[in-house]
Amino acid sequence: MNKIIVITGAGKGIGRAIALEFASRSKAQVSQPCTLVLSSRTPEDLESLAEACRKTGIAVETCRADIANPDDVERLIAFTMERFGRIDCLVNNAGVGRFKPLSELTLDDFDYMMSVNARGTFHLSRDVYTIMEKQGSGHIFFITSIAAEMAFTSSTVYSMSKFAQKGLVEALRLYARKSGIRITNVMPGAALTPMWGDVPSSMQEVMMRPEDIATPVVDAWLQPARTVVEELVLRPTGGDITT
Ligand SMILES: NC(=O)c1ccc[n+]([C@@H]2O[C@H](COP(=O)([O-])OP(=O)(O)OC[C@H]3O[C@@H](n4cnc5c(N)ncnc54)[C@H](OP(=O)(O)O)[C@@H]3O)[C@@H](O)[C@H]2O)c1
Repeated sequence: MNKIIVITGAGKGIGRAIALEFASRSKAQVSQPCTLVLSSRTPEDLESLAEACRKTGIAVETCRADIANPDDVERLIAFTMERFGRIDCLVNNAGVGRFKPLSELTLDDFDYMMSVNARGTFHLSRDVYTIMEKQGSGHIFFITSIAAEMAFTSSTVYSMSKFAQKGLVEALRLYARKSGIRITNVMPGAALTPMWGDVPSSMQEVMMRPEDIATPVVDAWLQPARTVVEELVLRPTGGDITT
Protein backbone atom coordinates (compact mmCIF):
# COMPACT_ATOMS: atom_id res chain seq x y z
CA MET A 1 0.00 0.00 0.00
CA ASN A 2 1.26 3.46 -0.90
CA LYS A 3 2.22 5.53 2.13
CA ILE A 4 0.72 9.02 2.11
CA ILE A 5 3.32 11.63 3.04
CA VAL A 6 2.38 15.30 3.62
CA ILE A 7 5.24 17.82 3.57
CA THR A 8 4.70 21.46 4.56
CA GLY A 9 7.02 24.21 3.35
CA ALA A 10 7.91 21.84 0.53
CA GLY A 11 8.53 24.53 -2.08
CA LYS A 12 12.03 25.59 -1.08
CA GLY A 13 15.06 24.72 1.00
CA ILE A 14 14.96 21.78 3.40
CA GLY A 15 11.34 20.84 2.58
CA ARG A 16 12.12 20.65 -1.11
CA ALA A 17 15.15 18.43 -0.45
CA ILE A 18 13.07 16.14 1.78
CA ALA A 19 10.43 15.77 -0.96
CA LEU A 20 13.06 14.91 -3.57
CA GLU A 21 14.70 12.42 -1.20
CA PHE A 22 11.36 10.70 -0.47
CA ALA A 23 10.69 10.53 -4.21
CA SER A 24 14.03 8.98 -5.15
CA ARG A 25 14.12 6.57 -2.19
CA SER A 26 10.48 5.52 -2.74
CA LYS A 27 11.48 4.17 -6.10
CA ALA A 28 14.47 2.34 -4.66
CA GLN A 29 12.54 0.96 -1.67
CA VAL A 30 9.81 -1.04 -3.36
CA SER A 31 8.58 -2.14 0.08
CA GLN A 32 7.75 1.48 0.99
CA PRO A 33 6.28 3.21 -2.08
CA CYS A 34 4.83 6.61 -1.29
CA THR A 35 2.54 9.30 -2.60
CA LEU A 36 3.56 12.85 -1.77
CA VAL A 37 1.26 15.73 -0.87
CA LEU A 38 3.39 18.87 -1.24
CA SER A 39 2.27 22.09 0.40
CA SER A 40 3.43 25.69 0.84
CA ARG A 41 2.12 29.16 -0.07
CA THR A 42 3.65 29.45 -3.56
CA PRO A 43 1.97 27.28 -6.23
CA GLU A 44 4.78 27.79 -8.81
CA ASP A 45 7.34 26.27 -6.40
CA LEU A 46 5.04 23.33 -5.76
CA GLU A 47 4.39 22.65 -9.44
CA SER A 48 8.08 22.64 -10.41
CA LEU A 49 8.91 20.40 -7.45
CA ALA A 50 6.02 18.04 -8.26
CA GLU A 51 7.30 17.72 -11.81
CA ALA A 52 10.80 16.83 -10.56
CA CYS A 53 9.41 14.26 -8.09
CA ARG A 54 7.11 12.65 -10.69
CA LYS A 55 10.18 11.90 -12.84
CA THR A 56 11.02 9.16 -10.31
CA GLY A 57 7.64 7.54 -11.14
CA ILE A 58 5.79 8.36 -7.92
CA ALA A 59 2.39 10.02 -7.54
CA VAL A 60 2.39 13.62 -6.32
CA GLU A 61 -0.37 16.05 -5.38
CA THR A 62 0.07 19.71 -4.51
CA CYS A 63 -2.04 21.81 -2.16
CA ARG A 64 -1.39 25.50 -1.57
CA ALA A 65 -1.77 26.28 2.12
CA ASP A 66 -0.57 28.91 4.57
CA ILE A 67 -0.27 27.04 7.84
CA ALA A 68 -0.79 30.29 9.79
CA ASN A 69 -4.32 30.34 8.36
CA PRO A 70 -6.61 27.87 10.18
CA ASP A 71 -8.90 27.51 7.11
CA ASP A 72 -5.88 26.51 5.00
CA VAL A 73 -4.74 23.94 7.57
CA GLU A 74 -8.19 22.37 7.54
CA ARG A 75 -8.31 22.48 3.74
CA LEU A 76 -4.92 20.71 3.47
CA ILE A 77 -6.11 17.92 5.75
CA ALA A 78 -9.47 17.61 3.95
CA PHE A 79 -7.73 17.59 0.56
CA THR A 80 -5.51 14.69 1.65
CA MET A 81 -8.21 12.70 3.43
CA GLU A 82 -10.72 13.05 0.55
CA ARG A 83 -8.19 11.67 -1.92
CA PHE A 84 -6.43 9.01 0.16
CA GLY A 85 -8.41 8.46 3.36
CA ARG A 86 -5.25 8.38 5.49
CA ILE A 87 -2.04 10.19 6.37
CA ASP A 88 0.99 8.00 7.13
CA CYS A 89 3.60 10.70 7.54
CA LEU A 90 3.55 14.44 8.21
CA VAL A 91 6.72 16.48 7.83
CA ASN A 92 6.19 19.72 9.75
CA ASN A 93 8.82 21.71 7.91
CA ALA A 94 7.14 25.08 7.13
CA GLY A 95 8.80 27.76 9.21
CA VAL A 96 9.84 31.39 9.07
CA GLY A 97 12.54 33.48 10.69
CA ARG A 98 13.17 37.22 11.05
CA PHE A 99 16.62 37.68 12.49
CA LYS A 100 17.52 41.00 14.12
CA PRO A 101 18.66 42.46 17.44
CA LEU A 102 16.16 42.39 20.30
CA SER A 103 15.50 46.14 20.22
CA GLU A 104 14.48 45.97 16.54
CA LEU A 105 12.05 43.07 16.86
CA THR A 106 8.46 44.28 16.51
CA LEU A 107 5.21 42.77 17.68
CA ASP A 108 4.44 42.09 14.03
CA ASP A 109 7.66 40.02 13.83
CA PHE A 110 6.54 38.20 16.97
CA ASP A 111 3.05 37.46 15.63
CA TYR A 112 4.40 36.37 12.23
CA MET A 113 6.92 33.85 13.58
CA MET A 114 4.67 32.53 16.32
CA SER A 115 1.65 32.18 14.01
CA VAL A 116 3.57 29.99 11.58
CA ASN A 117 6.12 28.15 13.70
CA ALA A 118 4.13 27.67 16.89
CA ARG A 119 0.40 28.05 16.20
CA GLY A 120 0.29 26.67 12.65
CA THR A 121 2.49 23.70 13.54
CA PHE A 122 0.34 23.01 16.60
CA HIS A 123 -2.92 23.17 14.64
CA LEU A 124 -1.77 20.86 11.85
CA SER A 125 -0.04 18.39 14.19
CA ARG A 126 -2.97 18.17 16.58
CA ASP A 127 -5.41 17.33 13.78
CA VAL A 128 -3.10 14.94 11.92
CA TYR A 129 -2.16 13.20 15.16
CA THR A 130 -5.86 12.58 15.84
CA ILE A 131 -6.20 10.96 12.41
CA MET A 132 -3.09 8.82 13.00
CA GLU A 133 -4.32 7.77 16.43
CA LYS A 134 -7.50 6.40 14.79
CA GLN A 135 -5.39 4.64 12.16
CA GLY A 136 -3.12 3.18 14.87
CA SER A 137 -0.01 4.19 12.95
CA GLY A 138 1.83 7.19 11.58
CA HIS A 139 5.00 9.23 11.81
CA ILE A 140 5.28 12.98 12.47
CA PHE A 141 8.53 14.82 11.84
CA PHE A 142 9.18 18.29 13.23
CA ILE A 143 11.94 20.27 11.59
CA THR A 144 12.66 22.43 14.62
CA SER A 145 16.23 23.72 14.98
CA ILE A 146 19.20 23.78 17.31
CA ALA A 147 17.52 27.10 18.23
CA ALA A 148 14.82 24.95 19.87
CA GLU A 149 17.17 24.44 22.81
CA MET A 150 19.72 27.24 22.64
CA ALA A 151 19.45 30.98 22.05
CA PHE A 152 21.34 33.26 19.69
CA THR A 153 21.35 37.06 20.01
CA SER A 154 19.90 37.54 16.52
CA SER A 155 17.04 35.11 17.02
CA THR A 156 15.10 35.89 20.21
CA VAL A 157 11.60 35.35 18.83
CA TYR A 158 12.68 32.65 16.37
CA SER A 159 14.11 30.74 19.35
CA MET A 160 10.91 31.34 21.34
CA SER A 161 8.89 29.85 18.50
CA LYS A 162 11.26 26.88 18.14
CA PHE A 163 11.30 26.25 21.92
CA ALA A 164 7.50 26.19 21.61
CA GLN A 165 7.75 23.58 18.86
CA LYS A 166 9.99 21.48 21.11
CA GLY A 167 7.37 21.69 23.87
CA LEU A 168 4.80 20.41 21.41
CA VAL A 169 7.11 17.57 20.31
CA GLU A 170 7.66 16.44 23.89
CA ALA A 171 3.99 16.59 24.87
CA LEU A 172 2.89 14.82 21.70
CA ARG A 173 5.46 12.10 22.27
CA LEU A 174 3.75 11.23 25.56
CA TYR A 175 0.55 10.50 23.62
CA ALA A 176 2.31 8.94 20.67
CA ARG A 177 4.16 6.29 22.66
CA LYS A 178 0.79 4.91 23.76
CA SER A 179 -0.69 4.79 20.29
CA GLY A 180 2.09 3.43 18.09
CA ILE A 181 2.82 6.78 16.41
CA ARG A 182 6.43 7.77 15.76
CA ILE A 183 7.60 11.32 16.55
CA THR A 184 10.95 12.59 15.30
CA ASN A 185 12.42 15.95 16.28
CA VAL A 186 14.92 17.11 13.67
CA MET A 187 17.24 19.85 14.96
CA PRO A 188 19.44 21.26 12.23
CA GLY A 189 22.08 23.94 12.58
CA ALA A 190 22.84 26.28 9.71
CA ALA A 191 21.90 24.92 6.28
CA LEU A 192 22.17 27.01 3.13
CA THR A 193 18.58 27.77 2.05
CA PRO A 194 16.58 30.81 0.89
CA MET A 195 15.74 31.48 4.56
CA TRP A 196 19.23 32.95 5.01
CA GLY A 197 18.96 35.47 2.15
CA ASP A 198 22.35 36.58 0.80
CA VAL A 199 25.16 34.65 2.43
CA PRO A 200 28.85 35.54 2.00
CA SER A 201 30.80 32.82 0.21
CA SER A 202 33.06 32.23 3.24
CA MET A 203 29.96 31.30 5.26
CA GLN A 204 28.41 29.25 2.44
CA GLU A 205 31.50 27.06 2.44
CA VAL A 206 30.93 25.89 6.03
CA MET A 207 27.13 25.57 6.01
CA MET A 208 25.25 22.29 5.56
CA ARG A 209 23.14 21.74 2.48
CA PRO A 210 19.40 20.88 2.57
CA GLU A 211 20.09 17.34 1.35
CA ASP A 212 22.29 16.76 4.43
CA ILE A 213 19.09 17.05 6.47
CA ALA A 214 16.85 15.22 3.98
CA THR A 215 18.85 11.98 3.87
CA PRO A 216 18.69 11.19 7.63
CA VAL A 217 15.00 12.19 7.70
CA VAL A 218 14.14 9.56 5.10
CA ASP A 219 16.49 7.06 6.83
CA ALA A 220 14.45 7.60 10.02
CA TRP A 221 11.19 7.04 8.11
CA LEU A 222 12.54 3.78 6.68
CA GLN A 223 13.33 2.30 10.11
CA PRO A 224 11.09 -0.67 10.95
CA ALA A 225 7.79 0.40 12.59
CA ARG A 226 9.04 -0.99 15.91
CA THR A 227 11.83 1.64 16.02
CA VAL A 228 11.58 5.40 16.26
CA VAL A 229 14.46 7.80 15.73
CA GLU A 230 13.38 10.32 18.36
CA GLU A 231 15.93 13.05 17.65
CA LEU A 232 18.28 14.05 14.90
CA VAL A 233 20.80 16.79 15.66
CA LEU A 234 22.75 17.95 12.62
CA ARG A 235 25.40 20.67 12.72
CA PRO A 236 28.06 22.05 10.44
CA THR A 237 31.20 20.10 11.31
CA GLY A 238 32.91 23.31 12.46
CA GLY A 239 30.11 24.09 14.95
CA ASP A 240 27.33 26.65 15.07
CA ILE A 241 27.33 29.66 12.83
CA THR A 242 26.22 32.87 14.50
CA THR A 243 25.47 36.14 12.74
N1 LIG B 1 18.09 26.72 6.97
C1 LIG B 1 18.50 26.55 8.21
O1 LIG B 1 19.66 26.86 8.55
C2 LIG B 1 17.59 25.94 9.24
C3 LIG B 1 18.17 25.50 10.43
C4 LIG B 1 17.36 24.94 11.41
C5 LIG B 1 16.01 24.80 11.19
N2 LIG B 1 15.45 25.25 10.04
C6 LIG B 1 14.02 25.08 9.88
O2 LIG B 1 13.79 24.28 8.75
C7 LIG B 1 12.54 24.62 8.16
C8 LIG B 1 12.74 24.93 6.69
O3 LIG B 1 13.63 26.02 6.61
P1 LIG B 1 14.39 26.45 5.27
O4 LIG B 1 15.70 26.95 5.70
O5 LIG B 1 14.28 25.39 4.25
O6 LIG B 1 13.49 27.73 4.91
P2 LIG B 1 13.12 28.35 3.47
O7 LIG B 1 14.20 28.09 2.53
O8 LIG B 1 12.72 29.75 3.77
O9 LIG B 1 11.85 27.51 3.08
C9 LIG B 1 10.72 27.54 3.91
C10 LIG B 1 9.55 26.87 3.22
O10 LIG B 1 8.40 27.02 4.06
C11 LIG B 1 7.35 27.64 3.33
N3 LIG B 1 6.55 28.46 4.23
C12 LIG B 1 6.92 29.57 4.90
N4 LIG B 1 5.89 30.04 5.59
C13 LIG B 1 4.84 29.22 5.37
C14 LIG B 1 3.50 29.20 5.81
N5 LIG B 1 3.00 30.16 6.61
N6 LIG B 1 2.71 28.21 5.39
C15 LIG B 1 3.18 27.25 4.58
N7 LIG B 1 4.43 27.21 4.10
C16 LIG B 1 5.25 28.20 4.51
C17 LIG B 1 8.07 28.45 2.25
O11 LIG B 1 7.32 28.64 1.09
P3 LIG B 1 6.29 29.82 0.84
O12 LIG B 1 6.96 31.07 1.30
O13 LIG B 1 6.01 29.72 -0.61
O14 LIG B 1 5.11 29.44 1.67
C18 LIG B 1 9.23 27.52 1.90
O15 LIG B 1 8.80 26.55 0.98
C19 LIG B 1 12.00 25.80 8.96
O16 LIG B 1 11.08 25.35 9.92
C20 LIG B 1 13.24 26.35 9.63
O17 LIG B 1 12.94 27.03 10.82
C21 LIG B 1 16.22 25.82 9.05
